[in-house]
Amino acid sequence: MSGGRKVRTGVLISGRGSNLQALIDAAAADPAFPAEIALVISNRPGAGGLERAAKAGIATATIDHKDYEGREVFDAALHDALTEAGIELVCLAGFMRILTPGFVARWEGRMLNIHPSLLPKYKGVDTHARALAAGDTVHGCSVHYVTAELDDGPVIAQAEVPVLKGDTPETLADRVLEAEHRLYPQAWRTAAARLLD
Ligand code: GRF
Repeated sequence: MSGGRKVRTGVLISGRGSNLQALIDAAAADPAFPAEIALVISNRPGAGGLERAAKAGIATATIDHKDYEGREVFDAALHDALTEAGIELVCLAGFMRILTPGFVARWEGRMLNIHPSLLPKYKGVDTHARALAAGDTVHGCSVHYVTAELDDGPVIAQAEVPVLKGDTPETLADRVLEAEHRLYPQAWRTAAARLLD
């Protein structure tokens, strides 16, 4: 039994943070939510998501990759900030840095990512354009555990959206993003509940 304990979650962002906002809103809407955001870290100074976190009263940190010589030291700084804050679960939400295998291994089973495709389809970038080019009629998003291989770890949850006639990568991205905002909180809840079991 969890006894109302909440899994301390760190969210890593690089940009506007609309998925971060969905996580903030989901936790605020349910007093019994099994997780809370204890820290938001951006690798980009001034990322819009930092303001969203501050507005919600969440601690923020900027760890600018440009201040570090190489991925190993940057990831070590991330790891230190997360462990100092007592973080147990990490959510990548539009975090645009590739993490080192060592960092990924240290957070195995405790780090989630949201990817805008129905994995295993379209790992990597330009997922919406690739779905359109392939003539797909269904597209969507996935939340998965992060493993050393890019966009490859075990999937926790997926959401489908239709591809409509006349869609551009932008219109399709907007439809997928709405699905992301519903999916990520659900998957976060699932992963957190597993840790509390
Ligand atoms: C989302 O499309 C997410 O799937 C991708 O990066 C984007 C982040 O958007 N990994 P936001 O910063 O959460 O608004």
